[in-house]
Amino acid sequence: MTQTILVLNGPNLNLLGTREPATYGSETLADITELCRCTGEANGLEIEFFQTNHEGELLDRIHSARGRCAGILINPAAWTHTSVAVRDALAAVELPVIEVHLSNVHKREAFRHYSYVAPIAVGVICGLGSHGYRLGLEHFAHLLKSRP
Ligand code: DQA
Repeated sequence: MTQTILVLNGPNLNLLGTREPATYGSETLADITELCRCTGEANGLEIEFFQTNHEGELLDRIHSARGRCAGILINPAAWTHTSVAVRDALAAVELPVIEVHLSNVHKREAFRHYSYVAPIAVGVICGLGSHGYRLGLEHFAHLLKSRP
């Protein structure tokens, strides 16, 4: 049976391509969606991709993954640094979580150095641009293969 990975993107990531390209690159969210779809296909994973600027919608989508998805790859964007609610929702659904960021948040402003999500994540990938999404999905494929 194909396993589904939910790929979630937080606020302002819909603006990728035109948003601060020196920091986030020139790829659009549609390009990243396609990259995830291709990576999923190559690794036997079904990909469900979602972006929102509304925190409640993200929470609902996280809740919907329980018992249905095999893992969550999330770029929580600014909510990484602010949202106890996003962290609690991720912890509540009891699925493996990988946190991803396009930019190297540790090279940037001090307020980006703390993540509410990282302590409940399997791992964090940052600073590798869209390649981080690919690596995260490949790691899920590896994790799921090694499950009994
Ligand atoms: C980001 C980093 C966050 O600090 C920022 O708020 C974003 C994008 C990244 O992908 O590099 O919106 O998550």
